[in-house]
Amino acid sequence: MDATNFFKVRINTLIPGKPVTFDLYVRVAGQIIMYLRNGDQLTKDKVDRLSAKDSGSHFYIRDTERVGYRDYVHEQLNSDQFDAFQKAQILRESSMTIMEELFEQPDVSIALEHSRPMVKEFVHLMDTEPTAMAHLISLSGHDFYTYNHSLDVAIYSMGLADALGFNKKELEEMGLGALFHDIGKRQVSLDILTKKGPLDDAEWAQMQKHPQYGLIILNEQNVSDAVKAACFEHHESFVGNGYPQQLPGQDIHPFGRIVAITDTYDAMTTQRSYNVPMKPLDAVTMMKEKLAGRYDPEMLKAMHSVLFKLKAA
Ligand SMILES: [Fe+2]
Ligand SMILES: [Fe+2]
Repeated sequence: MDATNFFKVRINTLIPGKPVTFDLYVRVAGQIIMYLRNGDQLTKDKVDRLSAKDSGSHFYIRDTERVGYRDYVHEQLNSDQFDAFQKAQILRESSMTIMEELFEQPDVSIALEHSRPMVKEFVHLMDTEPTAMAHLISLSGHDFYTYNHSLDVAIYSMGLADALGFNKKELEEMGLGALFHDIGKRQVSLDILTKKGPLDDAEWAQMQKHPQYGLIILNEQNVSDAVKAACFEHHESFVGNGYPQQLPGQDIHPFGRIVAITDTYDAMTTQRSYNVPMKPLDAVTMMKEKLAGRYDPEMLKAMHSVLFKLKAA
């Protein structure tokens, strides 16, 4: 059996002692083999033993049972058995594998189809657990991978949009738009994307095309204009000297203004090969002072409250 008809899930999204509602497989020496049948229990020492083996921290589930896994995660997020922090952890962990998959998925419509229930789950958790956002923020990755970056930008963006009073439907759209904000980077060569030193003029020109490339990709999909704007307008600057359209202030779609903030914030606070990550407060202060003018000032204020006020909750 090869891995093509399976998707990966992280071990720590499965609850020891709880019967699984799908068949579970492991990968051993390149082979996918059946490990646990639907209805069987996953015991804690089984989990520990598996984590120690070469199967690593992942299980596999058949593609056809995707909804079953989704329901299983959903049930945990609504259970009294877990506190808000544990729920945030389960949701983030289950989303990470979806994100890895999305970035390998050449078909954007499939990636979108899998993303929609995921952002819904985030909005639902924010709604049912008022402290969830603070926990999600505390769990944000500090290693830079595009999929990690996109997930964190989506989390921050939903938190910021929530603080700005957007409704649930809009928060879901915001999450989706933020997840796909850099989708156009698929068309930029890997050499440019992973280059360690500064980009030369031609490379920079290529890089700056990613919002347009993203728009072209999303125009072929069934997504709202707001989702497209999160992608196409996230490098606009409030003073009007961003790219690609040099739109000023209020002409930039609110989703574009939100992602402009959360994208920069994530880049500043994340470890990449060539920088030292900034502390959250230093990053926001720099955006308010040195980079003042680039961002919607009201939104930047709200971002501050999302990051720091909620922490006290
Ligand atoms: Fe970007
Ligand atoms: Fe980005």
